[in-house]
Amino acid sequence: MKLFLTGASGLVGAAFAQAAERRGHHVIGTTHRYADPVPGLRTRLSVDLSDPAAVTALVLEHFPDAIVNCAAVSAPDECDRQPALAQALNVDLPAQLARLAHHLSARFVHISSEQVFPGTSAGAYAAGDPPEPINLYGRQKLASEQAVAAAAAEFAVTVRAPLLLGNSPGGGRSLHERLFADWAAGRTPRLFTDEFRQPCTADNLAEVLVELCERRDVRGVCHWAGTDLVSRLELAERVRAHFKLTPQQAPLAGTTRADQAEAARRRPARLELDLRPLAGRLRTQPEPLAAALESLHVPPAARAWYLG
Ligand SMILES: NC(=O)c1ccc[n+]([C@@H]2O[C@H](COP(=O)([O-])OP(=O)(O)OC[C@H]3O[C@@H](n4cnc5c(N)ncnc54)[C@H](OP(=O)(O)O)[C@@H]3O)[C@@H](O)[C@H]2O)c1
Repeated sequence: MKLFLTGASGLVGAAFAQAAERRGHHVIGTTHRYADPVPGLRTRLSVDLSDPAAVTALVLEHFPDAIVNCAAVSAPDECDRQPALAQALNVDLPAQLARLAHHLSARFVHISSEQVFPGTSAGAYAAGDPPEPINLYGRQKLASEQAVAAAAAEFAVTVRAPLLLGNSPGGGRSLHERLFADWAAGRTPRLFTDEFRQPCTADNLAEVLVELCERRDVRGVCHWAGTDLVSRLELAERVRAHFKLTPQQAPLAGTTRADQAEAARRRPARLELDLRPLAGRLRTQPEPLAAALESLHVPPAARAWYLG
């Protein structure tokens, strides 16, 4: 299939490009500020996706069988800092891509977030549970889900993803890479002991997205995540143990939502996702945390510190 991938230089997009290439697909991928090579792309397009005219021109020029949207302003804090840009990337872009997919009768695969939920439930959120985002990023992701469904319900699938692990193209984007940056700089990262997430790797999610390009019978909003629910501090401790670092080499400090009340108001406390019915319908299996950790590399910028 000919796949049009936005955000090919991001954590998920880069993983998707390689997973799709392994499955024999022809991937046309967009990048913006990232300048280094992106493996897996047959064609690379440099474009500002906040320009709707440029987006339409490129999609119509390449006439893909599927459009996969991995572009976003993906950090909640960045959405708060740049709300207009975040609206353009997180809401207007997926709405436009969905309309284009409908126009071309192309498959549309979009990514939303666990953060459409408030995080107050003691159990797992099902895909049909009412969303109730508590921050701008979550509200934008919910708006994108609704816009995609309105524009291309019969062509589109939206996957709500959890906190993602992985080796990002720039080496500084994902959780373990930020921990390494802190440790290498002599800082002690502070992590919540009472904020819970169900992480998986971008590689695992990418396998799901490739399958969903090929499986047009799966539509609507569905959930994907790993198999383990862990606190942020426990996750960081598991990263440290995986790389065989000691608490002296790689210190971590715990903090609580009560101690950080202002920040905690905009952060869902507990995000557990019920993966049915998607998990039973795909070849790709939800990933245990132990397997996810195995795939992580020491980021290039911290190698000298790690080896020294
Ligand atoms: N990371 C997570 O933990 C997580 C969790 C749940 C859901 N998600 C969702 O998963 C999807 C992928 O996230 P990610 O973590 O892979 O994001 P990411 O690493 O931040 O990558 C964002 C991508 O969007 C591109 N982009 C940003 N602004 C652009 C612009 N104006 N024009 C063109 N391209 C632009 C970036 O291009 P350049 O780098 O080349 O500028 C990059 O390729 C998003 O929908 C995100 O909301 C992520």
